Amino acid sequence: METIAVYPGSFDPVTNGHIDLIQRSSARFDKVVVAILRNASKTPLFSVEERREMLTAATRGFENVAIDDFSGLLVDFAEQVGASVIIRGIRAISDYEYELQMALMNRRLSSRVETVFMLPAESYSFLSSKLIKEIACHGGAIGGLVPEDVERRLKDKFTR
Ligand code: PNS
Repeated sequence: METIAVYPGSFDPVTNGHIDLIQRSSARFDKVVVAILRNASKTPLFSVEERREMLTAATRGFENVAIDDFSGLLVDFAEQVGASVIIRGIRAISDYEYELQMALMNRRLSSRVETVFMLPAESYSFLSSKLIKEIACHGGAIGGLVPEDVERRLKDKFTR
C-alpha cells in the first residue's frame, strides 16, 4: 500500500527551506501533498492562488508532489486525500513546543495520521517566510533563500 504524506503550511511565500523538506519527503514517501492553509483570520501577503503558483513552479521537478489547499481541520484534509503522515519541519528547539502541541492534538483528533518531524538542511535552519518578507520589504538581499520566481514576486509586491 502506498504511503501518502501531507505537508501543510501557510507558505506565504514558499522558501528554499520548504523546498528542502519537500525534496526530502518526496524521496521517502510515495506521494506528498503540499497543502496551503486557507486561513481567513490571517492577512497573507500572497493570495492562495499566488502561493499555489509559486509552489507549483518550485516543485515541477518532483513527480510525486501535488499542490492543494484546504480549510478546516488538517486531519480531515489528510483523511480526504488518503494521507497517513503529516510532515512538519523543525528548525530549532524553539519550534518544538508549538509543533509538539499541534502533533499531540492532531493525534487526539485522529489516530489514523502520524506526525513526522523532519529537519531542513542546516543552511536553512534560520529561514522563515516571516523574515523573508521583512527583509524583502526593506530591500535586503534574499537571493539563494527563496526560488528566483518568488524573489521576483516579492520585489514586485514591495516596489509597487
Ligand atoms: O506554516 P504554518 O502557519 O506554521 O502552518 C500551520 C498549520 C497550517 C499546519 C496549522 O495552522 C493547521 O494545521 N491549521 C489547520 C487547522 C487545524 O487543523 N488546527 C488544529 C491543529 S492541532
